[in-house]
Amino acid sequence: MKYGFFDDNNKEYVITTPKTPLPWINYLGCTEFFTLISNTCGGYTFYKDAKLLRMTRYRYNDTTLDTNGKYFYIKDGDTIWNPGWQPTKTELDSYECRHGIGYSKFTGAKNDIEAALVTFVPIGDPVELTKVTLTNKGNSKKDIQLFSYVEWCLWNADDDMKNYQRNLSIGEVEVVDSTIYHKTEYRERRNHYAVYSVNSKIDAFETSRDEFRGAYNGPDKPAAVIAGKLNSTIASGWYPIASHQLNVSLNPGESKTFVFALGYVENAEDEKWEKPGIINKKKADALLAKYQTTEDFDKAFDGLCKYWNELLSKFHIDSKDEHVNRMVNIWNQYQCMVTFNMSRSASYYETGIGRGMGFRDSCQDLLGFVHLIPDRARERIIDIASTQFQDGSAYHQYQPLTKKGNSDIGSGFNDDPLWLIAGTSAYIRETGDTSILKEMVPYDNDMSVATTLMEHLKRSFDYIVNHKGPHNLPLIGRADWNDCLNLNCFSEHPGESFQCFGPSEGPVAESVFIAGMFVKYGREYAALAKLMGDSAEEARVLSEVDKMIAAIEKDGWDGEWFVRAYDAYSHKVGSKECEEGQIYIEPQGMCVMAGVGVDDGNAVKALDSVKEKLDTKYGVMILQPAYTRYHLELGEITSYPPGYKENAGIFCHNNPWISIAETCIGRGDRAFEVYKKTCPSYIEDISEIHRTEPYVYSQMVAGADAKFHGEAKNSWLTGTAAWTFTNISQYILGIYPTLEGLSVNPCTPAAFGDFNVTRVYRGVTYNIEIKNPNKVQKGIASLIVDGQEIQGNIIPFDGSKNTVNVIATMR
Ligand code: GLC
Ligand code: GLC
Repeated sequence: MKYGFFDDNNKEYVITTPKTPLPWINYLGCTEFFTLISNTCGGYTFYKDAKLLRMTRYRYNDTTLDTNGKYFYIKDGDTIWNPGWQPTKTELDSYECRHGIGYSKFTGAKNDIEAALVTFVPIGDPVELTKVTLTNKGNSKKDIQLFSYVEWCLWNADDDMKNYQRNLSIGEVEVVDSTIYHKTEYRERRNHYAVYSVNSKIDAFETSRDEFRGAYNGPDKPAAVIAGKLNSTIASGWYPIASHQLNVSLNPGESKTFVFALGYVENAEDEKWEKPGIINKKKADALLAKYQTTEDFDKAFDGLCKYWNELLSKFHIDSKDEHVNRMVNIWNQYQCMVTFNMSRSASYYETGIGRGMGFRDSCQDLLGFVHLIPDRARERIIDIASTQFQDGSAYHQYQPLTKKGNSDIGSGFNDDPLWLIAGTSAYIRETGDTSILKEMVPYDNDMSVATTLMEHLKRSFDYIVNHKGPHNLPLIGRADWNDCLNLNCFSEHPGESFQCFGPSEGPVAESVFIAGMFVKYGREYAALAKLMGDSAEEARVLSEVDKMIAAIEKDGWDGEWFVRAYDAYSHKVGSKECEEGQIYIEPQGMCVMAGVGVDDGNAVKALDSVKEKLDTKYGVMILQPAYTRYHLELGEITSYPPGYKENAGIFCHNNPWISIAETCIGRGDRAFEVYKKTCPSYIEDISEIHRTEPYVYSQMVAGADAKFHGEAKNSWLTGTAAWTFTNISQYILGIYPTLEGLSVNPCTPAAFGDFNVTRVYRGVTYNIEIKNPNKVQKGIASLIVDGQEIQGNIIPFDGSKNTVNVIATMR
């Protein structure tokens, strides 16, 4: 069942009922100012950091209630309603929500009034704009009232939801004409305030939530809206809000348009005040002055669309498969931008007060983002590396505002360092910019101990070399990629964090997954050393890699698949010897991607085992058999009921690893089959089972052991976005950036047909035509570049050209 449809021409998903199974959201804002917005106008806004600079308030732990939001109420006689349905939930005569790329549109109609909202964040300004168009579709004159509504958050979202004894006394606002200023804590240490304004004279305002709603009312029954009149109160403490009242008369057929602006303003310390107690509004006024007319709004909106069209034109496919075209050209790349911006901080499943920018997560997000805006990727790599410790290990996350690492969700995850190599290598393969390797980068933000980024990579690599266990495999630390495989934790009491409790290091627990990573990213690091002319380092690294391959072959192979780990007793995890959890997905994907087993047939065996034991119609599960009881020696992974999350869920993030691994052994049919199973557009018609947004990936789909097999959770912020884009663009479609130039080596299903790709790479546009006359799955018979046949798969980079035309014919 569907709740809407894709409008590919407009790059929109059109939701045709407000009653989606879960709120289906979108993100507004591209760089610093962000809003989450659901299909019923729920959500919230923040500047740079969802925890530390939260502008509007959201109520947690009520996913489908989905309060608060940025609401518009309409009072028409005795009826009050919202164009986005929530919060009054008045039955609408018509409803539509269009989530687009960086904007959302809502159209609701009731009793001959149509209200159309368009909302977005313009490029370059810290402001969210909403154009509200009211139209009288009937035959008689209408006198209605329009009310805006936002509830302010008192900036630190974590404190805001806990510290009422203080917070209910500190709220402060000012109002001048049509602009409401929220200035809580500005009197002391803050240098920022927020504004909510409309480009029209208002009839009244409200800044006190209790005045607006009335005691004991929810946002669905605001007393002042029901009465049709705001009281123009200046709030003092309690719950400050911003609401404008506009009385609107509409003749039959007449439309009126208003532009609302919700902005963020910072003032220098010595420019904070206009006079004692009165904030300096100059910057706010200048910001608002830019968006005073419908024309200003439309122009800025065009600017946003142009910005995105240009970004998305960097990778464009034209194939016979509409799902692939749609996901690759629009939604997958869009989600890559969102995960790059948010990391794992703010979604409808991440509160914005829990996690920040993840070290491993953000490094992986780069893989799907770097081709879009390489300069931002560069800056991000430096930010991440700046939080690394001198011994090569890492904080697991940092706050985007302060850029300082913290251990709030644990530290000592031994896969973290290697992801820095993955992200940096991807950046250099994309851009050719080796200058980044010479940048001086601090450790733990301490510039006095800074070294080059190249030295950071060396320390990342050496951290693994120096932390091996009894089987010469990497020590796992608190966990590796799988946060829940906590082999040194041994937690017996509820409430202890599996990632923070117990020693971060044990003497023996080892990870075969990290071993696979070490081979893959060790080789990428060696290639960088070679590129920088350091052949001694290259040779050293490759010999360490060879040792690791030997260790995997000796103790990391279980006969039919790769072992997952060795626990603190040096017992195997993910082996046929185990009672539960006999096979895990991660080492199969990572080891084969690293090339381990590709020549001796073990890769084929491992991937056949994955298909036989882990496959379901909704995707590939993370492990089998599911753990049915809590294993003290394995940690959080066994805390989940069977089929959910890391305990035998379909953890979408590593499905592309399997798909990529299949391309490494040339099985395009199977690679694509795995791709399709979790691909949102392919499963749009089971939205009642899948339940999360049909235009983006979710972190997890419940596995075969779960009650709700096929149901997804944790949409949007997942490494699945970047890895899937890497998989489809670089491995299945086969356009892979190398240090020397673009490589063309597709691995598609036999029946996929011919296709064309436009790829902008280091400023040059490649028009690539791929023909598959004999319906093979992999292999290039000839590669013709600007009319000349070349040998091999790699088109040497030539920056003197603007356009390169390529014809690749498969065998
Ligand atoms: C979550 C985390 C990610 C981790 C994964 C598996 O998605 O964000 O860092 O690798 O879970 O535990
Ligand atoms: C939980 C989740 C895991 C996530 C981790 C982050 O363990 O299951 O997916 O990565 O928390 O701290």
